[in-house]
Amino acid sequence: MGNALRLENITMQFGGVVSVNNLTLDVEEHKITALIGPNGAGKTTAFNCITGVYQPTNGQIEFMGQPIVRNHPTGKAAKTYKGENADKYAKDAVLSPTPDQITGLGIARTFQNIRLWKSMTVFDNVLIAKHQHAKQNVFSAIFRGNMAEEKRMREETMELLKEQGLDAYKDELAVSLPYGLQRRLEIARALATNPKLLLLDEPAAGMNPQETIELAEFVRQIRDKYDLTVFLIEHHMDLVMNISDYIYVIDFGSEIAQGVPKEVQQNQRVIEAYLGVTEEEG
Ligand SMILES: Nc1ncnc2c1ncn2[C@@H]1O[C@H](COP(=O)(O)OP(=O)(O)OP(=O)(O)O)[C@@H](O)[C@H]1O
Ligand SMILES: [Mg+2]
Repeated sequence: MGNALRLENITMQFGGVVSVNNLTLDVEEHKITALIGPNGAGKTTAFNCITGVYQPTNGQIEFMGQPIVRNHPTGKAAKTYKGENADKYAKDAVLSPTPDQITGLGIARTFQNIRLWKSMTVFDNVLIAKHQHAKQNVFSAIFRGNMAEEKRMREETMELLKEQGLDAYKDELAVSLPYGLQRRLEIARALATNPKLLLLDEPAAGMNPQETIELAEFVRQIRDKYDLTVFLIEHHMDLVMNISDYIYVIDFGSEIAQGVPKEVQQNQRVIEAYLGVTEEEG
């Protein structure tokens, strides 16, 4: 199988600060790949470059073999650029999609700090994501008399909620859910856009140990059921080592190691930069 996602020479510089430094990585189709590294390593910034939240300063991102993001430093950014490969993409067209366009291509994500529509019900959080994906607002389906489509979306929403064990909470406000279930709801909402690639930014953050174990199993289940590729950021080392087919480790924006869990676990640079710190923190 090919790569669902490829980052090539991605550098993200904010003013004088290089947050992601010449990062190249491949996320193989249908695999679960992890991006790990200490706090501030640049993991979320890398996700933001993939999802159109930030335009990287340099580099190219391919999705299913097609370039979707591309940039090179120009103007002021060229003068202050501290990264590598500044000329590599200068001949090619700049590609700078919006987050909505990225979602439309089949890339969905969850956020490190949960972003739900807090004052809406659990059901509506997922239904509205479906509506947004269908490029129509909440009312248009009804006004157009397109009841069949509306009915289908409602059924699919219930299906997603059941799968997450959230059906009993469907009429509750999103904000009233315990933290672990809010994380689940965010995944349901991401799945509502029918992604091929699912990016999870610390999906186990705030979960208790039992919820974390269940999450690992659940991520595998949805990967198989929806034929997804999964790329996740996570600090829980047990979860990462248990769930990942392949792991990239970054520190200060740069890759320091990559490999299967066993290789990464035994890598001296990783132990020094990351695993040791996590153990101390418990
Ligand atoms: N919009 C921004 N402007 C300036 N600096 C930023 C911006 N976004 C991120 N950074 C910086 O980039 C660096 C990497 O941050 P990032 O959030 O990607 O780290 P992370 O690996 O996700 O860390 P954590 O594990 O704590 O979530 C940090 O130094 C951060 O301050
Ligand atoms: Mg982060």
